Amino acid sequence: MLITNQETKINIKYLENLSLTQDEVKEVMEGLTSIPKSLPPKYFYDALGSELFEKICNLPEYYPTRTETAILTNASKEIVEITGICELVELGSGSSTKTRLLLSAYDSLGKPWQYIPIDVSGEILKNSALQLHQQYNNLSILGLVGTYEQALWQLPPSCLPQRMIIFLGSTLGNFTYEQSDDLFNEVRDILTVGDYFLLGIDLQKPADILENAYNDSQGVTAEFNLNMLSHLNRCFDGNFDINLFKHQAIYNQEKTQIEMYLYAQKSHNVRLNKLDLDVSFQENEPILTEISRKFNLTKMQDFLASHKLKTVKYWTDENKYFALILTQLI
Ligand code: TRP
Repeated sequence: MLITNQETKINIKYLENLSLTQDEVKEVMEGLTSIPKSLPPKYFYDALGSELFEKICNLPEYYPTRTETAILTNASKEIVEITGICELVELGSGSSTKTRLLLSAYDSLGKPWQYIPIDVSGEILKNSALQLHQQYNNLSILGLVGTYEQALWQLPPSCLPQRMIIFLGSTLGNFTYEQSDDLFNEVRDILTVGDYFLLGIDLQKPADILENAYNDSQGVTAEFNLNMLSHLNRCFDGNFDINLFKHQAIYNQEKTQIEMYLYAQKSHNVRLNKLDLDVSFQENEPILTEISRKFNLTKMQDFLASHKLKTVKYWTDENKYFALILTQLI
């Protein structure tokens, strides 16, 4: 589906219907039948999930959003000076709140330019496109509703001499090493030499700070994690009882990653009708719902460089909690 509004310079393109595919069925089946059990993180994001996620970003314990915003506030002008006018492609744009800092800096150059936000939620994308259009005079927006992979492969040729792909919020941390390797390969293949890739990453730090960030005192992250089970109930006609599970995030020091779990509070069975699947849980048995890897700045630059993405400049906060790396394809 394509929603076009010539006058307002906004296009929203739905890349695929996001209903159940064979792959998705397989993913959930495999996750729930393996040991330890796991679930695909994308089931966090239904309407309530997206709302809870926005709340997480504003929690006092959840330092990443605040810190990245502060870094972007300082760095935006410099980024624009380095890259000049370019087409911005954002992976997982959500409400584009942080990105606005960058968008303002580009818009103030006073030249026509294009922003391509990519997100799985069409609703969020449409709303933020409308808002951005009111705020920025020189901007045209092409919203792509779909997964990163789909959207990257279907990007139209850039209408400006240069392009920058943006990936903020340390969402890379939610990818396994192999998945991030795949993503960087795609980024490299889609960019042309001289184009930019801007990456926000959460850095390694003491376990207590990390564990507090993902086990907040108001229980919003717990609600967010448990909501995945309600979402699965709807998608697969299931009967997960969210009162029988408990959220806990732990920092795995060895793998330098936060692991988010849901622990069964007693032994019981769950049925997912659409999968014709019965799952039994032991008391205290965990389901892994997400990882959030924490990075070493130097190693990340090496990893980027191994994909021909050379660091032009990076910025961090004074605590070195978070980093923003601007790279260029060589
Ligand atoms: N990528 C961010 C992080 O890992 C945001 C995020 C994704 C998140 N899933 C989450 C935050 C689940 C809290 C809980 O921190």
